[in-house]
Amino acid sequence: MHNTAYETLHLDYLYVPFRVTKEQLPNAIRGMRALNMRGLNVTIPHKAVVLTMLDQVDERAGKIGAVNTIVNTNGILSGFNTDAEGFMRTLVEKDIRIPGKRILIIGAGGAAKAVAFALAEHKARIMIINRSQEKAAALAKQLKDQLQADAAAYSLEESNLREAAASVEMIVNTTSIGMGTADTPIPARYLRKNLLVYDIVYNPLRTQLLREAELKGAMTICGAEMLAWQGAIAFEKWTGCKAPVEIMKNTIYNKLT
Ligand code: ATR
Repeated sequence: MHNTAYETLHLDYLYVPFRVTKEQLPNAIRGMRALNMRGLNVTIPHKAVVLTMLDQVDERAGKIGAVNTIVNTNGILSGFNTDAEGFMRTLVEKDIRIPGKRILIIGAGGAAKAVAFALAEHKARIMIINRSQEKAAALAKQLKDQLQADAAAYSLEESNLREAAASVEMIVNTTSIGMGTADTPIPARYLRKNLLVYDIVYNPLRTQLLREAELKGAMTICGAEMLAWQGAIAFEKWTGCKAPVEIMKNTIYNKLT
């Protein structure tokens, strides 16, 4: 996605993957400074701890407690969370209005936090359902304390899923359920028309949850959209150029099935 975008715009950048252990993370960040790398994306399990190794952290990333994008400007390392903004951009692009919308978020991990903060900032009314209820409760409390959000938390029980699904206009799956499997986070019988179902899982492109939602006549958004947009926003921070989003999306769609 990134390399295709660089080639398209004739930019002299290269995006490469590095596998970094927890023990080596501080050295990896020092290496970034020493090698004068322009940027990094950071993923599981380093998104939270890397925050402490940077010179400055964007306010939203600080609140979320996770950085997925680092920009190196003359030796000053700044951390951002483009997951949250990327998620919002996919909704804006489709003219989906968030203020006042009742939204069920399934999951309370790192990805859920980025999604929940973005939605709460835009005044959604949020229900969080998670396998570990205490994590859902902690996230709801954080949204209420930091953003004065309308947020409530429940455990991942079928009765809670049924009631929540019946009362919301949008469901977002932020768990890894369905990644490489045909599992779903919510039984198909609770899905219906007039529901927007957003699965941030992007592998497979059409998860079982999205297939079942489509069969019910629900509108769906797949995780590849968010993947492309979080990448596009990082691209713009590193290069200062407008990202060729459609080309980045097509690259993802062509690679994933
Ligand atoms: P990420 O950064 O991708 O969000 P994470 O922080 O490990 O990863 O969060 C994973 C989320 O998926 C959590 O909400 C997790 O539930 P718990 O908090 O109870 O662990 C959820 N999850 C993963 N596998 C699950 C499963 N098989 N059933 C239910 N929830 C699951």
